[in-house]
Amino acid sequence: MLPQPLLERISALQLVLKETPTVRLPWEGLDLHAKLEGQNPVGSLKDRPALWVLKRAAERGQLHEGSTIVESSSGNFASALATYAKLLGLKFIPVIDPNITPGYESFLHRTCDQVVKVTERDDMGGYLKTRLNKVRELCGSIEGAFWPNQYGNPDVIEAHYWLTGEEIRRTFQRLDYVFIGVSTGGTIAGVSRRLKEVFPSIRVVAVDAQGSVIFGGTAGKRYIPGIGASVRPELVNHALIDDVVLVPEYETVQCCRELLLQHNLLVGGSSGSCFAAVKRYLPRFRELPTPPTVLFLCADRGTAYLDTIFSPSWSARFS
Ligand SMILES: Cc1ncc(COP(=O)(O)O)c(C=O)c1O
Repeated sequence: MLPQPLLERISALQLVLKETPTVRLPWEGLDLHAKLEGQNPVGSLKDRPALWVLKRAAERGQLHEGSTIVESSSGNFASALATYAKLLGLKFIPVIDPNITPGYESFLHRTCDQVVKVTERDDMGGYLKTRLNKVRELCGSIEGAFWPNQYGNPDVIEAHYWLTGEEIRRTFQRLDYVFIGVSTGGTIAGVSRRLKEVFPSIRVVAVDAQGSVIFGGTAGKRYIPGIGASVRPELVNHALIDDVVLVPEYETVQCCRELLLQHNLLVGGSSGSCFAAVKRYLPRFRELPTPPTVLFLCADRGTAYLDTIFSPSWSARFS
């Protein structure tokens, strides 16, 4: 029997992407919800753009049998791509850096034939520029290389508009605030565009890490992957943002633990940052005439961070 064409195989995989749950956190004076993107099949909000981008590329003839996918990622996009590339019979080379959690790194070594890890920090104290230079170098030397470019590919925005954003729209009758962690900007661009169409008065709050330069902050060393960047990605320019909150990493750690121990949610770093941003907003919420409906995105599961954020010895660096 002839194998199914690549595009058909990708469409079949898209069927495994189900809606992710939204849970309500009890909070006096606030109608607070968390959307658990870690419940996606490979474990994060990056499952959605990973498959969407591959599908669009296959439709345009940029991705075919025999292609090698090359991408820079702090963990989640690479894990999604690694899984889907394997299922589709394509080769994938992730370009990662030392901030990747041990869990994600070993996952990539088990699912990819080759993993490239850069070790030099760029002039902003991060690794993104170094990773992107490495991706360009690899793409120049590999025949049939395909770079999804999660930092600049508009297909990523489309994925979050039609999947994540649309799903949130279906869940809520009313939504006053949404808090979203930012790295490539793809999530906030797609989700903010969809939500502003249906909830015109919604306030979109971008959550970034202190030390990230996305919103003009001072560059500095960061240790928690997934949130922040050492260059401002192009996709951020497409987001409809009302406010930005920069969260220091020690606060992210505290809030991840609080989510686990008081709300029964084992979620990753950027989820803790979003929760921290919600808490910083509490005085403003109290001034409102009625309790607002607030949603924050939990981008991934906490299991990959057990040896970092949830480890007292690792997080001692912040005390
Ligand atoms: C855990 C986590 N949170 C938030 C984000 C930010 O999403 P985006 O890159 O769409 O801005 C990422 C991106 O990799 C992530 O891995």
